[in-house]
Amino acid sequence: MGAGVQAETTPPAGAFTAEPLYNLSRIRTDNWHRLRDLARRLDRGVERPEEAARLDIACGDALATLGPLEPYFAFPGWRAHQRLGGFHANKQWHVLARQTIRLIRLISTGAFRRLDLLDLKIQGYADLLDLDEFTEDVYRKIGREKRPYFVTLVVDDLPPLQELELQNRFRGHRRPEDRFIYETIVVRSFEAALLAVLVNPAIQCVIPRFSFPFADPEAGPAVAGMLAMLGFDRDALAAGMPGERTLALGRVLSALRPELDLFLISDAPVEHVVGRHSAQYRRVFYNAEDYGDLHLSILKGVHERYDTPFFSALQRYSQKPTGVFHALPISRGKSIDRSIWMADLAEFYGPKVLQAETSATTGGLDSLLQPVGTIKQAQELAARAFGARRSYFVTNGTSTANKIVMQALMQPGDIVLLSHDCHKSHPYAVILAGAQPVYLGAYPLSEYSMYGGVPLAEIKRQLLGLKAAGKLDRVKLLLLTNITFDGITYDPLRIMEEVLAIKPEMVFLWDEAWFAYGRFAPTLRQRTAMDAARRLEQRLASPDYRAEYAAWRAEFDPSTAPDEALLAERLRPDPDRARVRVYATQSTHKTLTSLRQGSMIHVADQEIEARVQEVFDEAYLTHTSTSPNYQIVASLDAGRRQVELEGYELIRRSVQLAMTLRERIRADESLGRYFRVLGPGEMIPEGYRPSGLDAYFDTAHGWTPLEPAWGGDEFVLDPTRVTLEVGRTGLDGDQFKQLLMNQFDIQINKTSRNTVLFLVHIGMTRGAIAHLVTVLTKIAEQLDDRLAHASRAERTLHETRVRRLMDELPPLPDFSRFHPAFQDAQGSTTPEGDMRAAFYLAYNEAACEFVTLDAALSRQVAGGREVVCARFVTPYPPGFPVLVPGQVLTAEILDYLLALDVKEIHGYEPEHGLRVFTEAALARRMAAESVEQGRA
Ligand SMILES: Cc1ncc(COP(=O)(O)O)c(C=O)c1O
Repeated sequence: MGAGVQAETTPPAGAFTAEPLYNLSRIRTDNWHRLRDLARRLDRGVERPEEAARLDIACGDALATLGPLEPYFAFPGWRAHQRLGGFHANKQWHVLARQTIRLIRLISTGAFRRLDLLDLKIQGYADLLDLDEFTEDVYRKIGREKRPYFVTLVVDDLPPLQELELQNRFRGHRRPEDRFIYETIVVRSFEAALLAVLVNPAIQCVIPRFSFPFADPEAGPAVAGMLAMLGFDRDALAAGMPGERTLALGRVLSALRPELDLFLISDAPVEHVVGRHSAQYRRVFYNAEDYGDLHLSILKGVHERYDTPFFSALQRYSQKPTGVFHALPISRGKSIDRSIWMADLAEFYGPKVLQAETSATTGGLDSLLQPVGTIKQAQELAARAFGARRSYFVTNGTSTANKIVMQALMQPGDIVLLSHDCHKSHPYAVILAGAQPVYLGAYPLSEYSMYGGVPLAEIKRQLLGLKAAGKLDRVKLLLLTNITFDGITYDPLRIMEEVLAIKPEMVFLWDEAWFAYGRFAPTLRQRTAMDAARRLEQRLASPDYRAEYAAWRAEFDPSTAPDEALLAERLRPDPDRARVRVYATQSTHKTLTSLRQGSMIHVADQEIEARVQEVFDEAYLTHTSTSPNYQIVASLDAGRRQVELEGYELIRRSVQLAMTLRERIRADESLGRYFRVLGPGEMIPEGYRPSGLDAYFDTAHGWTPLEPAWGGDEFVLDPTRVTLEVGRTGLDGDQFKQLLMNQFDIQINKTSRNTVLFLVHIGMTRGAIAHLVTVLTKIAEQLDDRLAHASRAERTLHETRVRRLMDELPPLPDFSRFHPAFQDAQGSTTPEGDMRAAFYLAYNEAACEFVTLDAALSRQVAGGREVVCARFVTPYPPGFPVLVPGQVLTAEILDYLLALDVKEIHGYEPEHGLRVFTEAALARRMAAESVEQGRA
């Protein structure tokens, strides 16, 4: 193999950089399939020469598209691709077709992961891709191989021949007892390394070796947007010396995929390198003198993520023969084994579930209430995976997680700021803690009957009002839902910075019930609480920030600036006073793998050890069952393993599938008559989108990169949430949901008056997306048909229905106010209220009466009657409390409730009416309050 071979086998270059990153894997898969289909047709023979020429060109096109991508994959990889290129150039259609068919079968079944390329003797160039070597024997071996597979990326400016040698060296260290198998790929520059970890999710480990250049003409433009979004200055990175480059590569790789294991091979004396690089690199090897050691370190790193301390302990426990003289007769199926009436339960759940049912806290298991063993370890691993200081498992959903955090952080009388369209667990938690809410207004999307997020200006406005009233010391917590059900996503870093500038000790609770997956994609991660907390902590501690703060203060004095100036200015927290105190609650079960009710609390509170730990533990005990469900705990542990090893791949695929769904609906004119996918342009007012991004897909521009908007817009739309406007079908959201379920077995969760929401989660497949589009097409065709044959009267009825759903939507009401009976007796200028007092006053039957929601009440309210609600009133949809105890019913809220034609309104019983406080009860309370105040 001489120089000629080397020149011939250099990894190819080509253009793909115009595509958004999330789309590259789809492009790759599609082009492999295209290549196979074209080669097949050419192999079968094409009569017309022009047609043959066209197919030939198309084949070349597919190969050219795949060319720049394959160097980032171990299989088929660039060498195989190049060999196929040779078959194409020589018009060897039969070989080309046969080889691509085999390759695609290996890719699509995942069997390539179980190939032992060394075993296949694929070492030389000549028989590199001679898949005829796929004897029965090889297939049998593939079938037997069960070990998980991953890819190790080496960054080194190696000639191709040495690359092959390196790959075989790693392969040579494989042992039958290894828990995993891996292949190695090599990229030759800093930028190519970044692109590699972004396009190839199978990469679990990166090994920069010696020195390598920074720039890559192909990969560079593809990763530029991502680098900028993450706040890295490309020019500064490029200017670094080779030694600094490895350090910087570690930093950027950790920002892209923090779960990766990084090893460094250096030829500088190890003692010079270790200290400087140890932050990002697990270990530094000198000159790779010992590949055996490196091989074991690679496997160990992956094993640390694969390890599931509690799940494994539960499996071991379930296999032990234990006599149970404890609670839980169902444990090991004992209470039903011999029962002739319960066979179906055992049959349905299977023996394993029952074997794992136990209340033991010994024998390798642990207590969730005071973990010291395997649950403690599992929680520590979860903290690592989710980037938290501490993580806690919760076996009763985020509803409970919110109550735990609220109780730990709030005392009676403290003020909490929260969005008025929040999940009902928020006000319940407020009541239990005895705190007083200040409801923040989210921007309304009245035309779709839903809310967006709370603008930063609204948060600042309320805080400044509380400050002016001298109540800032009572304000303890800001609670926001990120992302909202509909996918509206905040910028937590920006919000926390500005809030800390006004109140340096503020604590933040981010309800991430719907955003547990956010951590595992670099774009989305920017907007998660834990990542924002980490960056904020780093920023506040950095000398650069001190200088920035000093320069800003020299120009702007927040203590004398009027409120308008404070609202307009980007406020900066004082680095000597601000503390980073951030909590996130996540329903793991909603978006990742966990049994129902599996949730987590993640903590990034600089004060946890000093101030919170004890009360947090107490709050945790208050709300946690003394019989927590171990199956849920085990599933949280295993779910953590999954995201640490394949979270990146799963989330990227979800994003890409969601984009496909958008594309298919937007591009199909027949669907456009009845359906419209709502993008950022519809769901986020322009003022909150300086990037100008209004659609993730449009037919003129194709798919749009996310990074510019996600880097700076006040609100962004989570791409995995696809809201579909359905009002033009004449069905409201709920009716459309029933139609999907009853006729097409498609289940969805949230609807609004004229929209339905599709969650493209990690369990979604391309097939499911295709099915959904087919179903929508069918519905559109049925509607076309029905309208084409409808009488005039029927058509008019349809048009009226559409108009009502699309144009006659009741304006969404803001939170009105608390009645003075539940506010400070001397008259409050700020909106907080004693919701707990109102909640308990409603226990007193004599203090309450019922009113019917009707036009008569509407007239009375318009005429000045003050009606004060005694309960939470939550219509479904939208599913948040429109009225809370102590809140004054306004004409707008009443109109809204009257216009809602939903069947389910929690807290409102049509036969009785709405429970409200009597005037006498309110007057008594006000009188008692002022006496109390007078005494004080
Ligand atoms: C924003 C928000 N927070 C909390 C919850 C409660 O979560 P869980 O069902 O895990 O108790 C939900 C449930 O829908 C929610 O939407």
